[in-house]
Amino acid sequence: MTNIFEKEKEIFLQTYKRIPVDISHGEGVFLYDKKGNKYLDFFSGLAVNALGYSHPDIIKAVTNQINKFAHLSNNFITDVQIEFTERLLKYSEMDSAFLTNSGTEAVEGAIKLIRKAKGPDKKIFSFTGSFHGRTYGAMTLTAKEKYQKGFEPLLQNIFRIEFNNIADLENKIDADTVAVFIELIQEEGGIVPASNEFVKNIDGLRKKYSFILVADEIQTGAGRTGKPFAYNHYSILPDIVVTAKAIGGGLPLGALLVSSELNNIFTTGIHGTTFGGNPVACAAGNVVLKKVFETQLLEQVVSNGKFFIDHLNKLKNDFLKDIKEVRGRGLMIGVEHLYECNEMVEKFRERGVLVNCTNQNVIRILPPLIAEKEDILIFMETYRKILSKS
Ligand SMILES: Cc1ncc(COP(=O)(O)O)c(C=O)c1O
Repeated sequence: MTNIFEKEKEIFLQTYKRIPVDISHGEGVFLYDKKGNKYLDFFSGLAVNALGYSHPDIIKAVTNQINKFAHLSNNFITDVQIEFTERLLKYSEMDSAFLTNSGTEAVEGAIKLIRKAKGPDKKIFSFTGSFHGRTYGAMTLTAKEKYQKGFEPLLQNIFRIEFNNIADLENKIDADTVAVFIELIQEEGGIVPASNEFVKNIDGLRKKYSFILVADEIQTGAGRTGKPFAYNHYSILPDIVVTAKAIGGGLPLGALLVSSELNNIFTTGIHGTTFGGNPVACAAGNVVLKKVFETQLLEQVVSNGKFFIDHLNKLKNDFLKDIKEVRGRGLMIGVEHLYECNEMVEKFRERGVLVNCTNQNVIRILPPLIAEKEDILIFMETYRKILSKS
């Protein structure tokens, strides 16, 4: 039989460093490979699989929907799209939505809407350390040079402010500023929350200059941080929310959500997508939103997140030569090491645990929201064993 990893090298553009595991199936918080090995998955398809794998309610909802129709053009409106979108608007406290297939498309939609509302020659800001996606507009907002290099010219009039630096914020924002994009907890940047003071200052300047505040909740949305959205940890409500990842229950789905002041900028034919808001994805997404927002799941995320962070801090105190800091909220946790941690990710995998490394030295932990304390303890035991041997 052909080795799939060799075949992959032959037939795919080499954009991904593939994990050398041939997955057979997933169930709950576990993935299984074709050799019968079991893996505790604590990065959940990069914050997508909030309800784990093969959730029976998602399977049922998707099967029901696909039995009716898998796709209709967006010239139709369907009840499953309405049900999903009403829920998303209710819990995000936004007014109107445009559904997409991915996060980066939601960001592109936001940029287009801002430019249409405010004109092309005004300033849009994002922050150092930010990640907003890889299509042209989103890539221009994304701060890391490595994602932009070789792709110039980028979009014009998009500038950067240093994250959590109030002086830089006050220096750069002025009457020409029309929008600020923020991840309230930077993920790719190494799980770094915005400080309360910083957000307070952004909000003060927003009142003064009336710019549009866009919260990128693509990874932090839908309960990941223990609140419905990360901005709920601060006393602000953004003007635009972009979200994706977990909201589709494993199917491609994203959303651009806007407040009532911005709900008439896009008119018929101005923006669109063939697949965005696909009914099967919405059916799966509905299950996620119901479970996250209408059961006790969020409380479990808060209590398990605290339990997890307490255990990680104990580990840090025992391994001060390895771990610099533990950061996070809910089940979005980063452990900053004093060295690069790609090798460590391999050691986890050899011991049956999947985790991710971001910003070179941060172990990024994104368990399914349904993870239980006993799963967390398996992770902790593995972590301790790895550090004890290093
Ligand atoms: C904060 C943030 N914004 C935007 C994106 C881009 O989303 P997508 O990969 O769905 O296009 C991501 C993906 O990792 C993200 O984490």
